[in-house]
Amino acid sequence: MISKRLEIVASFVPQGAVLLDVGSDHAYLPIELVEKGHIERAIAGEVVEGPYQSAVKNVESHGLTEKIQVRLANGLAAFEEADQVSVITIAGMGGRLIATILEDGLDKLATVERLILQPNNREDELRSWLQEHGFQIIAESILEEAGKFYEIIVAEAGEMNLSATDVRFGPFLSKEVSPVFIQKWQKEAAKLEFALSQIPEKNQEERQVLADKIQAIKEVLHESK
Ligand SMILES: C[S@@+](CC[C@H](N)C(=O)[O-])C[C@H]1O[C@@H](n2cnc3c(N)ncnc32)[C@H](O)[C@@H]1O
Repeated sequence: MISKRLEIVASFVPQGAVLLDVGSDHAYLPIELVEKGHIERAIAGEVVEGPYQSAVKNVESHGLTEKIQVRLANGLAAFEEADQVSVITIAGMGGRLIATILEDGLDKLATVERLILQPNNREDELRSWLQEHGFQIIAESILEEAGKFYEIIVAEAGEMNLSATDVRFGPFLSKEVSPVFIQKWQKEAAKLEFALSQIPEKNQEERQVLADKIQAIKEVLHESK
């Protein structure tokens, strides 16, 4: 059983894909997908020795060493063109780190069909990075697990033209306005309202920045006129 978060990441992996899971602590995602018969083979890449060893042990104990190769490598250095990787998942890291990993291996992405990304924060920076590097977002998902909100961004090669609202809230998520999306942004608005209440009246510029952020949330939640 994998977490709901990884379950949703897995749901965007096409049947028969050759997967590279970057930052594959425990190799949970590749193991789940291979065991279900959803994919034939995968590479689990990990840069830190401890999590790499956990991934190796787990793949061995599931009897999957023929189908899942665990590689100690930094980011996209875990694969070569000959591996014919078609899908890359990068989950459970900061959005900025995910963008750095992609940027460092940008030339290798030309042959990859789909990126499935689950940043723990800075989703806006990751969306901007995708736009600036020849990717379009084709789907998004949002979930809540153990009191935390997670966004999943699925991208493929292509062009997109994101508005400021799309960048911050997600081009799909901001149109769907799901109950979880509403919860996430109502919570964020409450935090910003509190922060605003702590700023003295005389700091007008600082107050305005927060007020604008709150207003943008209200607009996306259709709470303002
Ligand atoms: C919080 S864990 C997430 C594990 C799993 N992907 C998940 O979503 O549950 C992040 C993992 O990414 C690994 N990691 C961080 N930077 C990396 C990089 N540049 N290349 C490969 N792995 C990396 C860390 O060592 C850690 O094991």
